Amino acid sequence: MEQYAIKGGNPLVGEVEIGGAKNAALAILAASVMTDETVLIENMPDVRDTNVLLQAMESIGVIIERVDRHTVKINGAHINGLVIDGDYIKRIRAGYYLLGALLGKYKKAEVAFPGGCNIGSRPIDQHIKGFKALGANVDIAHGLIKAEAEHLRGGHIYMDVVTVGATMNVMMAAVMAEGQTIIENAAKEPHVVDLANFLNSMGANIRGAGTDVIRIKGVQKLHGTEYTIIPDQIEAGTFMFAAAVTRGDVTVKNVIPKHLESISAKLIEIGCEVEESDDAVRVVASKRLNHTQVKTLPYPGFPTDMQPQIAVALGLSSGTSIVTESIFENRFKYVDELTRMGASIKVESNTAIIDGVDRYTGASITAPDLRAGAALVIAGLAAEGITTIDEIRYIERGYEDFPQKLRTLGAQIEVVDTEKDLQKFKLRVG
Ligand code: EPZ
Repeated sequence: MEQYAIKGGNPLVGEVEIGGAKNAALAILAASVMTDETVLIENMPDVRDTNVLLQAMESIGVIIERVDRHTVKINGAHINGLVIDGDYIKRIRAGYYLLGALLGKYKKAEVAFPGGCNIGSRPIDQHIKGFKALGANVDIAHGLIKAEAEHLRGGHIYMDVVTVGATMNVMMAAVMAEGQTIIENAAKEPHVVDLANFLNSMGANIRGAGTDVIRIKGVQKLHGTEYTIIPDQIEAGTFMFAAAVTRGDVTVKNVIPKHLESISAKLIEIGCEVEESDDAVRVVASKRLNHTQVKTLPYPGFPTDMQPQIAVALGLSSGTSIVTESIFENRFKYVDELTRMGASIKVESNTAIIDGVDRYTGASITAPDLRAGAALVIAGLAAEGITTIDEIRYIERGYEDFPQKLRTLGAQIEVVDTEKDLQKFKLRVG
């Protein structure tokens, strides 16, 4: 089984190019089927989740042409089925965006109940509530969510919780509904805005994305477009924290600094220097990090997808820090793994109390999910000695060429498949 082998102790130094945002790409790829004309998507991240979604789209007759690694042409004119089932689609969360997209276009869709990272209970009641408000019947049976409507008409939806997934899904379903839809208490994440911009470039009429209230005026049909996905806020944030934890000096390039503000603010608070330019952010960490408190919140708050990475940093800071997870209830599964590396963390309900230690030590650990896996890689890069990380398939869901990008910053990390590979790695790194 493939693992990462890491020899820690090198400060990360240099520049790294950030790719397109996975969580924007997933919604945008699904939304591309809503026109019969061809759509060209650029800056698509080549990660497992986007590839699984493209495979699901091909299974119903969508024509996908890879122009190059990060550019794809999509044509949904010849869709020949509205049922998307199968083991592969259950492994990702974003399959459900095809429900909103196909319901919006064909007024009917059946999609396997979504999977995704196991970070707590992940209900879809707000998606269903939104579809119903647009006049659809929604039923869950035999592992499928079925949505169907004679006519979709605009509706007024107040989301009970701020949810990225439901905001984007309902937006897609509403784009060609008759009349006006209003989504209140909408999520404001950059990827919500990116999806709205993409749909608008196809002829949709969406206003207010990025605020609490999104207004959508239904249009008859959508047309083809060419669109570039925004940079990945979380990939960028992960490299920024990798710089902090290894006491390095890293410039993340091709980013939108505004999207990184909550991350930059915390890095400054714990003692890093952060320099912003138009499309890059440099993080320099030259001394031991300070402790702090942080609570995950919907955008523009500190992202839940950065919670494990900041916890790894605070685990090495001076003093006691408190991390509160307010979005998902089971997102501290990495704590046991980090404890094997010498961290001192106590979890009480949705709060982690972290007593900073002087050092982590290399250990054999397992990635419990995508972001936690990436955070454990960062811990390994800072640790004394060798760390091996299993279940790297989780990390590959959302980070393109993670080991290669880290190596350009001076990290010693490799994918190994056998004990022999691991021994060779150990000999090489000394
Ligand atoms: C998206 O998940 C992302 N996934 C997650 O990224 C991210 O952690 C999350 O948004 C929050 O930013 C994708 O975009 C594919 P939510 P999503 O709907 O849409 C509750 C990663 O690592 N809720 O914003 O599933 C829910 O339980 C992944 O890249 C309901 O109660 O998240 C949670 O507490 C992991 N009912 C909160 O809302 C619903 O119908 C926010 O969830 C929907 C959600």
